[in-house]
Amino acid sequence: MNSGAPDTLVLDDLTVSRGIGPVISHVSLAVAPGSITAVVGPNGAGKTSLLESISGVIQARSGTATFGGADITRLSRRKRAKLGIVHVEQGRAIFPSLTVRENLQVASRDRATIDRTLEYFPELEKRLDAPTALLSGGEQQMVVLARAFAARPKVLLIDEMSLGLAPVVFLRLLPVVQEFAATGVGVLLVEQFAQLALGISSDALVITSGHVTYSGAAARLLDEPETLRKAYLG
Ligand SMILES: Nc1ncnc2c1ncn2[C@@H]1O[C@H](COP(=O)(O)OP(=O)(O)OP(=O)(O)O)[C@@H](O)[C@H]1O
Ligand SMILES: [Mg+2]
Repeated sequence: MNSGAPDTLVLDDLTVSRGIGPVISHVSLAVAPGSITAVVGPNGAGKTSLLESISGVIQARSGTATFGGADITRLSRRKRAKLGIVHVEQGRAIFPSLTVRENLQVASRDRATIDRTLEYFPELEKRLDAPTALLSGGEQQMVVLARAFAARPKVLLIDEMSLGLAPVVFLRLLPVVQEFAATGVGVLLVEQFAQLALGISSDALVITSGHVTYSGAAARLLDEPETLRKAYLG
C-alpha cells in the first residue's frame, strides 16, 4: 500500500472512542481515487462513527489518518473539507426553504461546476427554482448528493443514502455514484443494503462492534454469502 499516493486516503490502526469506550478499534484502510469501498455491518457497528472520524466530526484516540501522504489525524473538519473530504451525513440535510439552485450554490459558486453536476441529475434541472421542501424524498436525496458532487470532493463519504427512499429511487442513485467515482473520486459508501452497495463497489469493509471483520474485494462477498454472514457475526 502506497500511503503517499496522491489523493489516497489511508487509515492506519485508527481507534475512536465516544462515551463509554471505543466504537472503532484498530481500523486500517485505503481509499484510492476512483475506487468505491462499501462499508457494511450491523446497526451500531460503528459505520457512522468511522465516517465521522474521517471527516473530523469526531477525533481519533489513537492511530493515524493521512491524505495524499499528509497527516490529517488532528485536522479540524473544516480543514479536511478544504482538502476535499466531503461527508454526506446519515439523514437528509438540505436547506428546505432554499431552492434547489440555492442549495447547490451553497456548495459551489462556480456556474460550470453546478451545470456539470446537474448532468448527473436531469430530474433536478426542471425543479431548479422550487423550494427543496416541496420535492419528493428521492429528489431531496438527489439534491443532497448533487450538493456533495458540486463541492468537488476528492474523497466522498456517503452514509446510508437509502434511508427513507423507495428501493426504485435508491437503485436509480447507485449508478450515479458509480459514474461520479469513475471521474477519479474515492468513495466510502456506508449502506444498510449490503448486496446493492457491494454490487457497485470494488472493495468492501465489514465492521462489527467497531472491529473490521472483512477487508478485501467486494466481489468476493457477493460470490460467498457465507463469508459475508460470518463477517457480520464477527
Ligand atoms: N454521539 C454519540 N455519543 C455516544 N455514543 C454514540 C454516539 N453516536 C453513536 N454512539 C455509539 O457508538 C456506537 C457506534 O454507533 P454508529 O452510529 O457509529 O453505528 P452505525 O454502524 O452507524 O449504526 P447504524 O447502522 O444504526 O447507523 C454505538 O454503540 C452507538 O451507541
Ligand atoms: Mg450509522
